[in-house]
Amino acid sequence: TANSMWGGRFAAGPDAIMEQINASIGYDKRLYAQDIRGSRAHAAMLAAQGIISDNDATAIREGLLTVLSEIEGGNFPFSPALEDIHMNVEARLKEIIGEPAGRLHTGRSRNDQVATDFRLWVRDQCDAAIGGLRALIGAALTQAEAGADWVMPGFTHLQTAQPVTWGHHMMAYVEMFGRDLSRFQDARRRMNESPLGAAALAGTGYPLDREATAKALDFDRPMANSLDAVSDRDFALEFLSASSICAVHLSRLAEELVIWSSAQFRFVSMSDKWSTGSSIMPQKRNPDAAELIRAKIGRILGANVALFTVMKGLPLAYSKDMQEDKEQVFDAADHLMLALAAMTGMLSDLTANRANLQAAASSGFSTATDLADWLVREAGLPFRDAHHATGALVAMAEKKGCDLDELSLAEMQSVNSAINQSVYSVLGVHNSVASRQSYGGTAPDQVRAQIARWNDVLGKE
Ligand code: ARG
Repeated sequence: TANSMWGGRFAAGPDAIMEQINASIGYDKRLYAQDIRGSRAHAAMLAAQGIISDNDATAIREGLLTVLSEIEGGNFPFSPALEDIHMNVEARLKEIIGEPAGRLHTGRSRNDQVATDFRLWVRDQCDAAIGGLRALIGAALTQAEAGADWVMPGFTHLQTAQPVTWGHHMMAYVEMFGRDLSRFQDARRRMNESPLGAAALAGTGYPLDREATAKALDFDRPMANSLDAVSDRDFALEFLSASSICAVHLSRLAEELVIWSSAQFRFVSMSDKWSTGSSIMPQKRNPDAAELIRAKIGRILGANVALFTVMKGLPLAYSKDMQEDKEQVFDAADHLMLALAAMTGMLSDLTANRANLQAAASSGFSTATDLADWLVREAGLPFRDAHHATGALVAMAEKKGCDLDELSLAEMQSVNSAINQSVYSVLGVHNSVASRQSYGGTAPDQVRAQIARWNDVLGKE
């Protein structure tokens, strides 16, 4: 039988496979709360504008609350024949309240309806991401505070480079997650305009009050162009892009935790709560949560690429292609929130091994740059010459199998006669980090200043 929503023009119903490819109810039912909220706002506005009667609006608004409780109670009969959440809700409303249900869709199209619902949903996810990031930043700050002056090796090319502090390393991620947070705030601000009232694409002849529905739905204002309102999904792309960048940051931290928790590093001990064992190797404690977080970028960036690809080249205004926007965003959002929560928990329960960090910081000639800088400062060498002399000392130490500070003064002087006893003070890792006083540097004072600034930011926002 022909569809009850547009059966006037149709003699026959859809092929079974048509119904299957066309139906989105299997996933867009997740928009039920947004859909009902949007419809209730629309109905109230229609009555306030005298487009429908107050009685009809009341029946619609109360009927929609019944639908809402049916869905939340788990006894709503979702039907694929009714395609999507919008038509499922409206059809059920008709069953409950009868004739007035048919007046709800006045001056509205599923095109502005779905754009509204989806914006509301993505806006909530921005808020969830912001909340998740605040918690994660808090956990990283706690780690940074505890180890603001714990030395560890800083790496480039994963080769020992210069000593840094644990606090400094943690604060690097605080900066990254802080930018992620601001990206979600920016995206939220930009997407917070109402498509409702754009109707199918051209606007409508009914005297709608778009300001009123925008306000009722906590949007800042109505979107200014009806074609744009029903056509663009840039708000979803922004959410996915911000999510992708955030997932990259999570992935890099996760990778470091995997490396750091290995027997070869032992920089950190992962809590049992975030580890798994092996069914065959009794000694194993695997950082599965970190590995799974490391992998989430795959599906999140995948969703991003998928939606970009769907949207590319679509003519204005609405095309059904855009129904393919939701699953990608749902999946990416679910997994981003999960990854944020898991990383927050893992970081909170993580123990940094101060002694191992320090031992590693002291090996690998990590203070060679400090030695070169000493030669510039104390012996007046040009930096390039100091670099060369230091390189010779590193080679000597490497040959002897010792650290730089284990070379005797005589050995040092054989490379450059200006070297004296005071050179040994700069070869210690604590002196090295304490000397890095430039703004943003690894000196514990600098790190503590950044921690204080971030505690402030978190407290204020
Ligand atoms: N389920 C549809 C979607 O998600 C709703 C909009 C349908 N509009 C239309 N003109 N067929 O995009």
